[in-house]
Amino acid sequence: MGWARQHEKLQVDELPAVLLVFATCLIWFSSRRYFEARRQLRLRRTIEMKLADALAENQRLAQQYVDMQESERKALARDLHDELGQYLNVIKLDAVSIRDAARPDDALVKGAARAMIDTVDRVYAVVASLIRQLRPAGFDELGVAAALEHCLNDWRARLPGTAIEVSIDTDLGALDELRALTLFRLVQEAMNNVARHSNATRVDVRIVRRSDSKAREFIDASIADNGRGMDLDAPRLGLGLVGMRERAAACGGSLKLSSHVGAGLVVFASLPASNAATRP
Ligand SMILES: Nc1ncnc2c1ncn2[C@@H]1O[C@H](COP(=O)(O)OP(=O)(O)OP(=O)(O)O)[C@@H](O)[C@H]1O
Ligand SMILES: [Mg+2]
Repeated sequence: MGWARQHEKLQVDELPAVLLVFATCLIWFSSRRYFEARRQLRLRRTIEMKLADALAENQRLAQQYVDMQESERKALARDLHDELGQYLNVIKLDAVSIRDAARPDDALVKGAARAMIDTVDRVYAVVASLIRQLRPAGFDELGVAAALEHCLNDWRARLPGTAIEVSIDTDLGALDELRALTLFRLVQEAMNNVARHSNATRVDVRIVRRSDSKAREFIDASIADNGRGMDLDAPRLGLGLVGMRERAAACGGSLKLSSHVGAGLVVFASLPASNAATRP
């Protein structure tokens, strides 16, 4: 202050006061910025927590939806088998009795009974295939790996010009029903698409277990064909790929496609092996 007063004529004596006001403003301004930044951070954390809760709720609802869909399918498969299947059996037995009881020279009755038997056999085959689609054959009794083998064997018979290679490098027995069914449905729809759209001569189905850096376990499944491939950016109308993505997301997993026109399609799904692995 003394030194400043000596240079009063140059108005230097006002400098300390100006500096004081300036410093006060600076402190006030930076504390405002500091508190504002802390408020923003708190707000962001709250929004992030709400978002995580909403995502978890979303996944829970999607799981519930898939569960309900599967249990309805299971009930429908059981009713088709127990009700319709029994009636068809009875009709067939009656038709066989009519055929056997008909007089040898009654060609009309014998022919009609034989036609009934053939029709019942055809309807039975349709019902059996419906039941298999609703509830994978062998899934409840032998598990998902056997059901997958069975399903792919069916495809081998239906697509004799396509070599279908399967490799399942892990025990799928410990998967819960939701994950096991999701895995099955993903392979089922991918194979449906191969048959309908790809014109492939080879399909590789590969299922492996993988651990990430946090020791969480995942089941990775890939279905790769060498067919005509597809333009991934082109608009699509079907429900299959959308359904696959939704099913994978419902158990905390993801689905990726990789393809070039003329160079086949790879469907890659990664599913957490258990609910624990879905936590961040
Ligand atoms: N393996 C494949 N090779 C070539 N194109 C494919 C393959 N899989 C899917 N696509 C293409 O992606 C489209 C969308 O497939 P998606 O399964 O969603 O529907 P979709 O099979 O046409 O009908 P749906 O609803 O009955 O499944 C198909 O129409 C087809 O053009
Ligand atoms: Mg499809």
